[in-house]
Amino acid sequence: MSEYWNKRYVDSDYAYGEEPNVFFAEQLNSLKAGTIILPCDGEGRNGVFAAKSGWNVYAFDSSEKGKTKAMKLAEKSGVEINYIIEDAVSVSYANDSADVVALIYAHLPPDVRKPLHQQSVAWLKPGGRLILEAFNPTQLHNSSGGPKDIGMLYTEKMLREDFKGLRIEFAELLQTSLNEGKYHEGKADIIRFAGVKI
Ligand SMILES: C[S@@+](CC[C@H](N)C(=O)[O-])C[C@H]1O[C@@H](n2cnc3c(N)ncnc32)[C@H](O)[C@@H]1O
Repeated sequence: MSEYWNKRYVDSDYAYGEEPNVFFAEQLNSLKAGTIILPCDGEGRNGVFAAKSGWNVYAFDSSEKGKTKAMKLAEKSGVEINYIIEDAVSVSYANDSADVVALIYAHLPPDVRKPLHQQSVAWLKPGGRLILEAFNPTQLHNSSGGPKDIGMLYTEKMLREDFKGLRIEFAELLQTSLNEGKYHEGKADIIRFAGVKI
C-alpha cells in the first residue's frame, strides 16, 4: 500500500495542496495549542499548519515519500514536526498524551480502521478532542477523490460505534466542493465529526 502512496506523492507539487483541510483548520483555530497526533498525515499540510499555530505535532504515515515532502514543507514554513514512518497497525503513542487527534482523509480498511480509531481515543487526554473528516459512501458517485471501495468510506453510524469513548459534539454528512490539490477537487460527499474524550 505504501507503494501506491509513494507514487501519488512523486510529483513536486502537493497532491492535496499545501494548505490545511478547512474543517481541521477551523476546529484547531478554536482551541488552545497543545499536543496533537496526526495519523496518516501524508505530505504534511495539516501537521505543518498545526505547528505554525503553535502545536507540538506528532504525525505518522506509512509513505516515505509523504514524510520527505512533509519535512520539506515544514522546513519551508520554518517549523518542526515529529513525523515518523509507521503503519497504523503498529504505531504507538502514550495513552492520555494528546490534546487533539485529527484523522483527515485517513481512509483505512475495517480491520485497520477500527483499532486505530479506538487507539486514537486512548491517546487523547480526558477532555481532549478528536477531529475527523472523510468521504462518506455517496462519494462513490463522484470523481473528486477517495477510495473506490465502500468498506473504506465512513458512515455516521460506524464513527459513533468506533468512538464510543467520546462525547460526540459534531457529526455532519454534507455535500461540499473540495479544492484541496488535484486529487481532492470538485463536488464531494463527506462526513465531518468531532468529539471530546469523557
Ligand atoms: C488521502 S491521503 C491523506 C493525507 C493527509 N491526511 C491529508 O489530508 O492531506 C491518505 C494517507 O493515508 C496513508 N495511509 C494509508 N494507509 C496507511 C496505514 N495503514 N498506515 C499509515 N498510513 C497509511 C497514506 O500513505 C496517505 O498518505
